[in-house]
Formats: sequence, structure tokens, C-alpha cells
Amino acid sequence: MCPAGTIHGEMQEWLNWHAWNACMAATSSRVRIPLSPPYFCHLSKLCHNRFMKQYGVAVLGGSGFAGQELTGILENHPAVASVQTPVTGELAEFEGSEVVFAALPNHTSAREVDRHYSNGSTVIDLSGDLRFPTAGSYNAWHDRPHPAPHLLPAPYCLPEYPHIAGKHTPDDPRHTSLAEGRKLASMPGCYPTATLLGLLPLLHRGLIDMQGAPIIIDADSGISGRGKKPSEETHFMSVSNNAVSYKTGRQHRHVGEMELFLDGNEVFFSPTTIAIERGMLVKATARLAVGTTLGQVRQAFVDAYEATPLTAPFVKVLPEDELPTIQETVRTDECHIGFVVVNRTIQIGSSLDNLRKGAASQAVQAFNVMHGLDETVGLTPKKG
Ligand SMILES: NC(=O)c1ccc[n+]([C@@H]2O[C@H](COP(=O)([O-])OP(=O)(O)OC[C@H]3O[C@@H](n4cnc5c(N)ncnc54)[C@H](OP(=O)(O)O)[C@@H]3O)[C@@H](O)[C@H]2O)c1
Repeated sequence: MCPAGTIHGEMQEWLNWHAWNACMAATSSRVRIPLSPPYFCHLSKLCHNRFMKQYGVAVLGGSGFAGQELTGILENHPAVASVQTPVTGELAEFEGSEVVFAALPNHTSAREVDRHYSNGSTVIDLSGDLRFPTAGSYNAWHDRPHPAPHLLPAPYCLPEYPHIAGKHTPDDPRHTSLAEGRKLASMPGCYPTATLLGLLPLLHRGLIDMQGAPIIIDADSGISGRGKKPSEETHFMSVSNNAVSYKTGRQHRHVGEMELFLDGNEVFFSPTTIAIERGMLVKATARLAVGTTLGQVRQAFVDAYEATPLTAPFVKVLPEDELPTIQETVRTDECHIGFVVVNRTIQIGSSLDNLRKGAASQAVQAFNVMHGLDETVGLTPKKG
């Protein structure tokens, strides 16, 4: 595989110029230039990027933590012609663009999504407003009526889901949700992304004991996960040199979101804010089904994320007995997954950057797939 985005700055410029000239020469009938595979790979990507259709996009909530990150990625995306970031006070008058990303707070987002989606825009929502399939389930976890129930169920877009579930499960609504040409996507939350990427490969193979104790999900997150609006809980004096657990047990609405996709397994969720800006480490502890071997566990992760160099280009599986760290995924588009097994107890660790793979870059992955582009365009996939 040719890793996109691994060549930067002047080197990229130099390569672009030479590759473009070589491309022109190689396609003329008189000249034959032998091209090495990596050079050819870069060349074909360059040609693809040159002729890529470009879209006008808008980021609603562009001044927020997730919105700023998203705007930065989109401004350098080869299929994006322009990025508009209307300010909060002007949202109601904003007419929209071909593609609208909504990085707005919960309970505000759905109305804006509804308006732009009904006006014909393709809409990708980063909030929690469209993650529940029915108004009733939304009400149960958000404790209020849904602002736009006619949008439900919206496609829930965990981009790796087809890799996990395999290519032949067309009856599963989660599987088809990212098909090219879809015009609405609801992006998973950052905690559920890390949790589901860690657990789903095992659940799909029946390797988790469904009758056992609840799955315990212990999650540490940087302070940016709480958004930019300051509060007593996110005040420097509360978080510095500290680790603060909140909404432990079944209080956080991400519990409902995770359980929807964990085939009825009960979750005990313990989120903790730690004194770092960004990054997340989720540790899920569960019982393995009777007779499960280490080899089956490893194979489930390899098949889901590393079957070919093109499978799940942002998810890396670590060697056995190694759990990921926050530092290795922060400011990257990757999620790293590792596991430790003792008898029938497994702990799966997943680390990611809550603002990138947990929010902005995952939304760009969805944008790419919805528009028929390679899912890595504009992003940096894992290194081999
Ligand atoms: N932070 C994360 O790690 C993360 C991860 C995954 C998903 N998300 C989701 O992404 C969304 C944005 O999160 P965030 O952390 O970026 O939040 P944030 O930092 O608080 O930013 C919120 C954005 O929405 C705007 N906004 C605030 N109140 C508004 C209102 N009543 N009407 C219209 N616009 C309003 C803000 O504009 P002003 O500048 O004018 O206040 C700001 O641009 C949330 O739904 C969140 O759940 C966040």
C-alpha cells in the first residue's frame, strides 16, 4: 500500500512537480519511463487528486474544539473547494453548502441538520442528536423530546463497521450506512468509537460471554472532550494534577449508544477526565466465552483490521499483552488496540485522539466514503 500523507512540505512539492511531469511523459506514446511501485503509487494518487471533483463544505460550530480540528483537515483536503464557518449568531441565516458538517452542541444540532438536509445538502452530524434510532430511545437517554424525530433512524457511521462485520451482511442497517451516495450520517461519540472498535470484532465472532457480568468500560479522556464552554468541573483548579470520574455506572448517555451496538450486553461505564488537553484511553473488561483461545481472539482483531493493507487503514492492532498509550495516538487519525487475557477475563485497550479519530477525522472518513473517495483522502493512515 502507498501510505497517503507520509510525504510532506518541500519534498511533497518536489515530488508533485516531478511526478506530474513524469505522468505527462509516461502517457505520451514515444517515451517509456520505468516507474518504481512507490513512485507509481504516488503518481496515480496525484493524478487522482488533480481530477478529483471538489465540493463546497461548511462547518457549523467551527469555533468549537471539534469544529476547529475539522476545519483544519478540510482546508487541506483535495476534494474540498472551500470551507465556510458561519458564526453562531448567523447560523439561522446561513444558506448552507453542498456538504454541511454539524459540530454543534447536543439538542442544537438536530434542528440545523434538519434544515440543511431538507434543503438538499449532504449532512454529517458530529453531535449525539441522531445516534439513537427512535425518538423514544433518544428521550430515555437525553430526557427530552427529539427536536427532529422524522430524521430517525439516521445512518450511524462507524467507518470500520464493514471491515468488522464482513462484506456480506446487507440486512444490517449499520453495514449499509456508509454506502456511497448517502446524504446523511450520524457520527459516533468518541467514547463509543474507542469502545466499539475494541469490542465488536470479538462480539461478532461470539467470543464474549453474553451471560456473564456487565462489560466494564473504564475510560480516561483529555479535557477537550468536555467542549470549550468552561464550567466548575472543567476549571483549571478542578482538573490540573487531577483525575475526576463523572457519571459513573449507567448515567452517561454514551452507555445507551454503546449498548445499542453491543448486542444486548450490559455496560458499566466509568469515564474519567484527566489532566491532559486531548487523547483517550478506553479499557473494556469482559468475560470470554467458554473455550475461547488466544489465537481466536488475535485472529478476530487481525481479520477486522489487518486482513489486507487496505483493511481499516486507521486501526492498528498491537502485539499480545500490550495495551496502547494515549501519547501514541494523540494528534493522529489512528486508533490503537491491544489486549491482555488472564484465564477467561480479557481487557481490551483502545486509544485515540478524541478530537480526531473520535470526532473530526472520523467525520472526514465518512465524507470520503459517502462521496466515493478512498477513505484515507485528506487524512494520515497508520504506517505499515
Ligand atoms: N470534544 C470532543 O472530543 C468531541 C468528540 C466527539 C463528538 N463531539 C461532539 O461534537 C459537538 C461539538 O463538540 P465540541 O467539543 O467541539 O463543543 P464546543 O467546543 O463547546 O463547541 C461548540 C460549538 O458550537 C457552537 N455553539 C454553542 N452553542 C450554540 C448554540 N446554542 N447554537 C449554535 N451554536 C452553538 C459554539 O459556538 P460559539 O463559539 O459561538 O460558542 C462552538 O462553535 C458536540 O455535539 C459533541 O458532543 C465532541
